[in-house]
Amino acid sequence: MNIPIKTADEIEKMREAGRQAASVLEMITPHVVAGVTTGEIDRLCHEYIVDELGSTPAPLNYHGFPYATCTSINHVVCHGMPDFAKKLKKGDIMNLDITVKTADGYHGDSSMMFVVGDSIQGGRLARITQECLYKSIAQVRPGVHLSELARTIQQHAESNGYSVVRDFCGHGIGAGFHEDPQFLHYDGYEPNADIALAEGMCFTIEPMINVGDYRTKVLRDGWTAVTKDKSLSAQWEHTLLVTATGVEVLTARSDEDLSFLEA
Ligand code: MF3
Ligand code: CO
Ligand code: CO
Repeated sequence: MNIPIKTADEIEKMREAGRQAASVLEMITPHVVAGVTTGEIDRLCHEYIVDELGSTPAPLNYHGFPYATCTSINHVVCHGMPDFAKKLKKGDIMNLDITVKTADGYHGDSSMMFVVGDSIQGGRLARITQECLYKSIAQVRPGVHLSELARTIQQHAESNGYSVVRDFCGHGIGAGFHEDPQFLHYDGYEPNADIALAEGMCFTIEPMINVGDYRTKVLRDGWTAVTKDKSLSAQWEHTLLVTATGVEVLTARSDEDLSFLEA
């Protein structure tokens, strides 16, 4: 496996890409309310990425994907398609996944959950899923194997009665949207795929956690992935840089408390 190690110059470009992706989520947050359509959310993000950031939304035309962002509501696991006929309603949960490609050619990839109005079950799922992300990020440093991060995620999800999606994974990221390695969020590693992290690697952690069974299927549109049992699903994603002593969260937002990383 050829896992790119970023140069100092590339790391600066990845920092900028990460900041840009985070800024899109910060910009859109006040717009994600009951009554707004996922098509409108996508349009606002697309315009911001092009007009304000001078960058490109990486999903657009990626293997034919027709939108700038992915909007995945309730039992949609990932790759939900924005839709001007789909209004958010109270009690919905939605993942919004943003990938920016900067003019320099580097990618920042991040997603977060929005709980519209109130949802006890959805709110708990979103919280536990974010904890899965944070607990695994806290372990990132040179020498740690991917399976160790995966076990942390699986343990936290399953001990709370949830399951970890197996059909989609995290990934290396840089000049490529999806680079090596693949990061499985459950412990299903072939021995040669369970690589040790090294300083200068960039990759995403993006656990998808279901209330019910882990199995998914893709709808006839060829993109929308849903839980087979129609149970709720949540996801959070960050782009990370492995540093000499730990990790830098390249897509950190101002609403996040990442002080747990300093402990
Ligand atoms: N942003 C997604 C990821 O986390 C990928 C979306 S690809 C698309 O890897 F084509 F569906 F947009
Ligand atoms: Co990703
Ligand atoms: Co993403």
